[in-house]
This record gives sequence, C-alpha cells and structure tokens, in this order.
Amino acid sequence: MLHISHFFLLFLIIFLLSSSNRATSNEEEEDDGSEKNQPDQFISLGAIVDFNSRAGKEEKVAMKMAVNDFFGHGGHLPTVLLHVKNSRGDPLQTASSAKTLIKKHHARVILGLGTWQETAIVAELANKSKVPLLSLANEVPSGACSHWPYLVNAARSQFAQMKAIAAIIQSWGWRKVNVIYEDTITNPSLTAGITPYLIKALQEVRSVVNDLVPFSLFSDHSISENLMKLKDGQCRVFIVHTSATLATEIFKEAKKLDMMEKDFVWITTNSITDVLHTLNATTFSSMQGVLGVKSYFSDSNKHFKHFRTRFQVEFSKQFPKETNPKPGIHALQAYDAVRAVSLAISRNSNRKFYSAILSTGQNWLKGILNSNFEGLTGPINFKRGMLAPSHVYRIVNVVGVETYIDLGYWTEGLGFSVNISRDSVYNESMKFLGQVLWPGRPWSVPGGLKEAKRSDSSQSQASLKIGVPTGKTHVEFVNVRNNSDGSLNVTGFAIEVFKAAVKLSLDFPPYKFVEVSGTYDSLVEKLCLQVE
Ligand SMILES: *[C@@H]1O[C@H](CO)[C@@H](O)[C@H](O)[C@H]1NC(C)=O
Ligand SMILES: *[C@@H]1O[C@H](CO)[C@@H](O)[C@H](O)[C@H]1NC(C)=O
Ligand SMILES: *[C@@H]1O[C@H](CO)[C@@H](O)[C@H](O)[C@H]1NC(C)=O
Ligand SMILES: *[C@@H]1O[C@H](CO)[C@@H](O)[C@H](O)[C@H]1NC(C)=O
Ligand SMILES: *[C@@H]1O[C@H](CO)[C@@H](O)[C@H](O)[C@H]1NC(C)=O
Ligand SMILES: *[C@@H]1O[C@H](CO)[C@@H](O)[C@H](O)[C@H]1NC(C)=O
Repeated sequence: MLHISHFFLLFLIIFLLSSSNRATSNEEEEDDGSEKNQPDQFISLGAIVDFNSRAGKEEKVAMKMAVNDFFGHGGHLPTVLLHVKNSRGDPLQTASSAKTLIKKHHARVILGLGTWQETAIVAELANKSKVPLLSLANEVPSGACSHWPYLVNAARSQFAQMKAIAAIIQSWGWRKVNVIYEDTITNPSLTAGITPYLIKALQEVRSVVNDLVPFSLFSDHSISENLMKLKDGQCRVFIVHTSATLATEIFKEAKKLDMMEKDFVWITTNSITDVLHTLNATTFSSMQGVLGVKSYFSDSNKHFKHFRTRFQVEFSKQFPKETNPKPGIHALQAYDAVRAVSLAISRNSNRKFYSAILSTGQNWLKGILNSNFEGLTGPINFKRGMLAPSHVYRIVNVVGVETYIDLGYWTEGLGFSVNISRDSVYNESMKFLGQVLWPGRPWSVPGGLKEAKRSDSSQSQASLKIGVPTGKTHVEFVNVRNNSDGSLNVTGFAIEVFKAAVKLSLDFPPYKFVEVSGTYDSLVEKLCLQVE
C-alpha cells in the first residue's frame, strides 16, 4: 500500500508537471478530466479500444461522454482520469496497453476490449492484479467470468441470435446452410464461440451446416477464390459471421461473381448488422437483398434520444470522416459500463477519499457487480459476472442506397413480430413479417440450392414415393385407408416409427405414401421406393 501511494504521488507530480505540455503526449492515450484535476480526489480508469473499428470509435466517444456526465460535475464524486489506449486489434498491443494501464497509470478498472480474443488476453493479468475488467465483447463464454472473478462481461451475450437465424432458415424451408467466419491466426476462438450454438440451433429446426468456411483478409486463398468454390457447390444459403471490414470485401467480390443474384440467400450476424448504418453507398450497393440479425435496443425512449443527439455532435467532431454519426449498440454498451463504474464509486464516496483511492480491487468489483439500474441497453445487473443475455433481435433487409428496412423482430421463445409492444402478435414463421427483397430482387422465395443441371419444372417438388401395402392382415403395423376427401390415410406402428425417424433425420427429402397391393415381393419388384 505504501509503495502504491508513493508511486501515486510521484505519478501525480509528473502528471501535473506535464499537463501543461499535453500536446506532446502519446496520441494513443488521451487523458480526460485533467483540467479540473484536484490532487486529493483523483482516480484513474483505463480503456482499451480498437480505434480502427467503428465499434472502438463509438466506445471511445461514449466513454468520454459518460465520464463527463457522471464525474464531470464536481460534487462529491472524485475526479476521474480516463486513459484510452488503442489496441489496433493487435494482441501484442492489447497486452502491453493493459500492462501500462495497470502498472503505470494504476487504473482501478479497465473497460473495453470488444472481442473475446482481446478480453482473454487481458483477463489473466487483470485477475492477477485484482483490477476489475469490464469487457465489451459479446461472445464471452459463460464459464469465463467464474474462471476469472475479476472479469465482468458488460456487453450482453449474443449467442441467442443463432436461434433467430435458425428460425429464419426454418421459415423458408432451407435444409442446408454455409457458414462463413473470420479466420485470423490469433483468433480461432471466434468460431469455437458461435459454431456450437449455430449447429445446435440448426439441428433443432432440422437443417444442417453444409460447409464451414474460414475467410481472411490476409490469407493465401483470396476471397474470390473461396467464393468461387462456394458458388460451384449446391448450397446457396450463406450465413456471414465476420467483422464488418471483412464482410465489406466479401460482398464486393460476391457481387462481381454474380452471387448477389436470384436464388442466393445471405444472412449477416450482429457483428456486421450492428454497424450496417455506418457502411457507405458502394458497400450497400453490393449488399442488396441481404438479411441481417441485429442486436436490439429501444430507440424510442427519451433517454436514448437525448443520448443520440449529444453523441452525434461529439462523434462528428472526433471522427468527421465516418459515414454516419448515429450511435449503435457499441456506444450504448460503453456508456452503460462507465455508468456502472461511477455508481460503484458513488457508493464508496461517503468514505474518506484515501479509502476511495486506495480501496481494494475487491471493493470495486463488489460495487460494480452490485449494479442495478436501467441503462441504455436495458437493465444493468450482473449475474455471475454477466448481464442477462439478449433475447430480442431486429430482422433487417438491405434495400436501396444506404438504407435497410426493419422487417420486424424475433424474440426467443415467442417468434417473429412486427413490433415490440404489449399487444404484439407473434408467429413462428418469418413469412409473417411480409415481403422480403431477396438478392436479385425476385419476389419469390429463393430455393437456397443450385438448380440441378437437367432440372425440369418438377425438380423442386421431387418427392420420395413410399410404398405401403393395402393388405388388411396386420393393421396395427400398417393400416391404409381412404380419407373422405380421397387422400390416403396411413397409420400404424411401422408408420409411426418411420415418421419419427424422418423427424430425427436432418436431410430427409419430402415424401408421399402410395398404395401397393399384393405381396412384398411384388412390392419390391415394382420398385416403389424411387424418386419421382
Ligand atoms: C483470479 O483471482 C482470484 C482471486 O484473486 C483467484 O481466486 C483465482 O484463482 C484467479 N483465477 C485464475 C484463473 O487465476
Ligand atoms: C466505401 O467503403 C469501403 C470499405 O470501407 C472502401 O473500400 C471504399 O473506398 C468506400 N467507398 C467510398 C466511395 O467511399
Ligand atoms: C403492434 O402490432 C400489432 C399487430 O401485430 C398491432 O395490433 C399493434 O397496434 C402494434 N402496436 C404498435 C404500438 O404499433
Ligand atoms: C403465421 O403466419 C403465417 C404466414 O403469414 C400465417 O399463414 C399463419 O396463419 C400465422 N399463424 C398464426 C398462429 O398467426
Ligand atoms: C382408395 O380409393 C381408391 C379409388 O378412389 C381405391 O382404388 C383404393 O382401393 C382405395 N383404398 C383403400 C385402402 O380403400
Ligand atoms: C386417419 O384416420 C384416423 C382414424 O379414422 C383419424 O383419426 C385421422 O385423423 C386420419 N388422419 C388424417 C391425416 O386424415
């Protein structure tokens, strides 16, 4: 403790000496609150964000706004210095930033780290140093916060979106999907994160992953090579789970290869859809017909509207070149996270300032984990270090220049709805949301499969003929009767078993029963089990 307080005073003196000379300070680091710095009430917070990504830019602006909002008005709260470090999405940079924040700046809390990969790098160090780490990654595995008690997941888990995607797939009857994910050498966990959830969700709707295809901005196989291979395959439904930067390149190439055309289906996950509004017209033009699953937050309440107005001004000031200053989910999460920290401090504030400054990481952690307030992204309270996961998503469709439309919502356990309100009507089929503008703009639903070469018009209705004997000898096994409308009514134990097996099979084609009279041998002779 003595050591820390000495170091703290030393640092403070250095800081005061250098604060008149701030223009020379490292551009990756920006200190807030220095103007109103009071030596006796001074707390430092650390942030690590990726300035190269839209998410990181939003997080930076939102955190600074929050620091001003919650600590900037003097009063009883201590002055806070927010040190923002640029991770550049680079693991080495991330690790060294974390070290600097903890060792040099004595950050009491670290915020940011938009990906699970970055979070995992810092979690060990933060836990060892007993510095709470509020991660803004939404793919943090559920066990991580128990493994590292000082890791707090301040972004909602978005794993449930895989169920939303499965519900979309089921609505239109596609049986196979290709999954495109981002492969970076340092980031194998990205797929490990979502893949099991996606495979399970698809299994539940009796669809399968046809191919899991890694794409990368820096690999031997170019994006177009990869896409060409996929184009040659049978399956034309693509789920794209990558960064927006990579997705932009993928859609550009896909458009060149005529893969944004009739019969192709493209679905983007929240990692892309959440920043859709920030993409430029060129990118939009190659994404026509894309369906997206987007993180949900309420954009109609007055708190959000107030925040949005102020954010847009700040954001445009700091990033004048960005396409659209509108805040997305990343800004809101960052703002809520800083607010949770400020409330943890204010609960400590009736103590003497030294105890606030030197209070243990454990106190900070406890204060943060006790958060209970209504944030911009919904209720903020932590269970086992995590926020309640998202279970509502927006379903959007890219149409027109620089726009997409909200088709509606999907809610876990309820299904699709056109709005979110007390009188919402839910339906398990996405068809309920009305017309989708598919790639190539046909009004009809894409089959999701490549047309067979010798295809005739009956191709899509091809069904397996299952012969059933009409003999009346063992009706408990197979009983074939005519319904009053002339259709065939087939029941019995063997039929139940057959239907149950079909239900479990992921890939069973459509089928119909046809009656066959006579012996088993004659049935086989007639080759009743054939594709029509
Ligand atoms: C994290 O820190 C806590 C408390 O200091 C400790 O009990 C736990 O073992 C640490 N976890 C890891 C994975 O090191
Ligand atoms: C649109 O964005 C993409 C990707 O960020 C970029 O490569 C392209 O140059 C931009 N186009 C225009 C016209 O700004
Ligand atoms: C929500 O949608 C339902 C129909 O699904 C409609 O009856 C209701 O008026 C809508 N509510 C709002 C607030 O738009
Ligand atoms: C669900 O939507 C479909 C397609 O619009 C419609 O045919 C069906 O009746 C709806 N089901 C319910 C329970 O509302
Ligand atoms: C069902 O009706 C068809 C003619 O409509 C007849 O040929 C067939 O034998 C009937 N099947 C049974 C099981 O009664
Ligand atoms: C088949 O017949 C049984 C018994 O008459 C009846 O309960 C059932 O609803 C019928 N099934 C169909 C699909 O018509």
